[in-house]
Amino acid sequence: MSIEIRPATAPEMGQLGLMGAYSYGGAFGDGPDNVVATGTRPEWTLCAFDTAVRQADGQPTMATSFSAFPFTTRVNGNAVPLAGISTVGTRPEYRRQGLVRKIMTQAFADQYQRGQCLAGLWASQAAIYQRYGFAASGGLREYRIDTTDIHLHQDVAAMPVLRFEGTDALDAVREVYKQFIVARTGYLHRGKSLWLDNVLAPPPEDGPAYVAVVGSLEAPTGYLVYTLRAGRVAHRARAQEICIRDFAWLDQPSYGALWHYLARHDLVGRVIWGRAPVDDPALDLFIEPRLLHTQDLEGTWWRVVDAQSALALRGYDVAGSLVLAIADDELAPWNNGRWYLDAGPQGAEVRATTAAADIELSVRALSSLYSGNRSAQQLANAGLLAGDPDTVAKLDQIMRTRFAPHCPDHY
Ligand SMILES: CC(C)(COP(=O)(O)OP(=O)(O)OC[C@H]1O[C@@H](n2cnc3c(N)ncnc32)[C@H](O)[C@@H]1OP(=O)(O)O)[C@@H](O)C(=O)NCCC(=O)NCCS
Repeated sequence: MSIEIRPATAPEMGQLGLMGAYSYGGAFGDGPDNVVATGTRPEWTLCAFDTAVRQADGQPTMATSFSAFPFTTRVNGNAVPLAGISTVGTRPEYRRQGLVRKIMTQAFADQYQRGQCLAGLWASQAAIYQRYGFAASGGLREYRIDTTDIHLHQDVAAMPVLRFEGTDALDAVREVYKQFIVARTGYLHRGKSLWLDNVLAPPPEDGPAYVAVVGSLEAPTGYLVYTLRAGRVAHRARAQEICIRDFAWLDQPSYGALWHYLARHDLVGRVIWGRAPVDDPALDLFIEPRLLHTQDLEGTWWRVVDAQSALALRGYDVAGSLVLAIADDELAPWNNGRWYLDAGPQGAEVRATTAAADIELSVRALSSLYSGNRSAQQLANAGLLAGDPDTVAKLDQIMRTRFAPHCPDHY
């Protein structure tokens, strides 16, 4: 076997499509020109090719597919570059031979050079990625509620909510989203393709995407993107279902107004919002919160690729300084060592130091802490971080995020 690891060329992107078709069981299309191939550029890929085994057209056989989108994410008020890893798959006949490990090692080195200090992904199985230092960095909260059970404490009926179709309200919605994510963590800066090919492009069986905007197109203060289908609920009078695809709000009255708008859909027996953040306020605002039938699920996973840059670029609300020691990062050895972190609302300085460590942790624990998915105390309680209790408490203050990390965009 003669394996070469390199980006795919443009003519080889059809093989990437077919790899995605097989790895994901057709979820993104079956042909060589499916979404897996068309949504990625050759220069974003890093694949393994068996040069000894040729395809009918003479191309070397793609044994493993891999790509990383050049995203920007929010981390507690700041923009941070993130490599969004996707299309990971190895042909069954090449599995368990270390190909993904080789690619991941090369990818982290490339991302480090490119200044992509974080890597993120949606994991088909956590076991695959935890060994590479990825940690859960945001959850998904799912609600399923009957419209007759939507009652909030506040009276919000007075706010106008207008409905639009397709891209008619796109400018207003983009503006709300930008403001909504600014202080949050984990949300992506959405380019045109994330809006048009993701948020506003539901699967055909769900019908068109509708957009509800609070206020006006000129001064919007919240929005919902949703689909509405008949015959989905076993109910004699209310068999329709609404699926919320995206939800953002700039103040609590707008949040309430959008729920109130949903409640007016008298033929809808079920509203599903499968991608709410885990700190979504509904449980505090609903009069009968248990009727939301809340379920928490796994969301995206992050890996700190370049600890020094990632810590320097992130936002901090509380000032403080300490020395973090990272050890045993085999895939990104430049992270190993002791780092002096001096952080606060005005910015952060991070430099290598020989001073004694206040806190010791692995890169996986750092990734979890970095996103705010786990506090330093929770990691210490789990034996994943070491430090004296006062320093752990101080680290908690420095690293806390205003909002729970969350990414509603699947990639
Ligand atoms: C997951 C997958 C990409 C791994 O590819 P691979 O080339 O076999 O990976 P490697 O040989 O480099 O294995 C890397 C490590 O992961 C382990 N591993 C691989 N697949 C695993 C799985 N499904 N569950 C648990 N461990 C797994 C291997 O044992 C190996 O462990 P080690 O590094 O400690 O020796 C491949 O099995 C696959 O294509 N699966 C189906 C598609 C899929 O799930 N893709 C991920 C989409 S997010």
